[in-house]
Amino acid sequence: MQGMIVLGIETSCDETAAAVVAADRRILSDIVLSQIEEHRPYRGVVPEIAARSHLDHIDRLIAQALEDAQCGWTDLHGIAATAGPGLIGGVLVGLTTAKAIALVRDLPLIAVNHLEGHALTARLTDGIDFPYLLLLVSGGHCQLVAVQGVGRYRHYGGTVDDAVGEAFDKTAALLRLGYPGGPAVEAAAGNGDPDRFALPRPMAGRPGCDFSFSGLKTAVRHAVAALPEGEADPASAADLAAAFQEAVADVLADRTINAIARFREEFPSGDRFVVAGGVAANTRVREVLAGTVAAQDMQFIAPPAGLCTDNAAMIAWAGLERLRLGLTDGLEFAARPRWPLAELRPRPGVAP
Ligand code: KG4
Ligand code: ZN
Repeated sequence: MQGMIVLGIETSCDETAAAVVAADRRILSDIVLSQIEEHRPYRGVVPEIAARSHLDHIDRLIAQALEDAQCGWTDLHGIAATAGPGLIGGVLVGLTTAKAIALVRDLPLIAVNHLEGHALTARLTDGIDFPYLLLLVSGGHCQLVAVQGVGRYRHYGGTVDDAVGEAFDKTAALLRLGYPGGPAVEAAAGNGDPDRFALPRPMAGRPGCDFSFSGLKTAVRHAVAALPEGEADPASAADLAAAFQEAVADVLADRTINAIARFREEFPSGDRFVVAGGVAANTRVREVLAGTVAAQDMQFIAPPAGLCTDNAAMIAWAGLERLRLGLTDGLEFAARPRWPLAELRPRPGVAP
């Protein structure tokens, strides 16, 4: 395990990424090419454009990742690629490229679940042991999960409507803050007064660990419509962004408290909480969660922002974790647009 090196490939959404990671947790290279400019005119990711763009850039990025890592094909021990969930055209580009390399170079293929990539990142960055409680907050997902091991996830709760990153993106569009939404809302919120507008905290105070964000987004829409011009001037947009960000952080904290209670019951020795996914790049969200988790006597772990948003180092790392356990995949492995964490298994035929 110590000397193993894996190439990771990520193409499930609008970042084309390649990275080389070593089993001793060194990131030897980590390249992320954002397609933001290509999707900006449409104010959202266009799947067909994303897939074509991945195809245009993936070979060059892989060559660059190997060069940055000063490593040749013969230094690699495996090829890991995101095999889902995600936009299927893009996933196919990365997975097929990985299969071709695996075949030609006679290397094991590891078909990585993108969510498992996010879920295991804290073991790459902080070297933590299992079990831990994970809050995964990204553009497509919002869930609380007990992470018991590689391929062993217990779902505690998830969103019943929008993912939290999606709520950030839609709110940014309503406030005309630009694309992509999360960083734009965070930047605007920095100049805003979070108390001028009272926004709801959907699900807060209810039992369980589920989330809902569509009502919050609608509340922002109504607040904008009630403004004298019927649209947000820069000061109101900043105030609404701040109020929205605060409401999201509060809801995440409220649901996390319930999840911690359940996690403690099921894993009495577990005392670590990890936040991951693109929204974990948000400073205010991290701050509120860190306080909440500390008040519950749990250790708070958040990977650096660049490893919270989509990247290939997390895919290479998940590949290494699987390779170490002998969990490799055949070239017939089919890309999966939908692939919940709870469907993963530590070994074929083993219950989660
Ligand atoms: O994990 P990720 O890069 O891609 C998915 O797997 O979905 O997450 C992207 C999401 C987007 O919705 C983006 O707006 C959000 O993460 N995001 C943020 C921030 N940076 C990215 N949301 C809030 N604050 C941020 N600073
Ligand atoms: Zn992601």
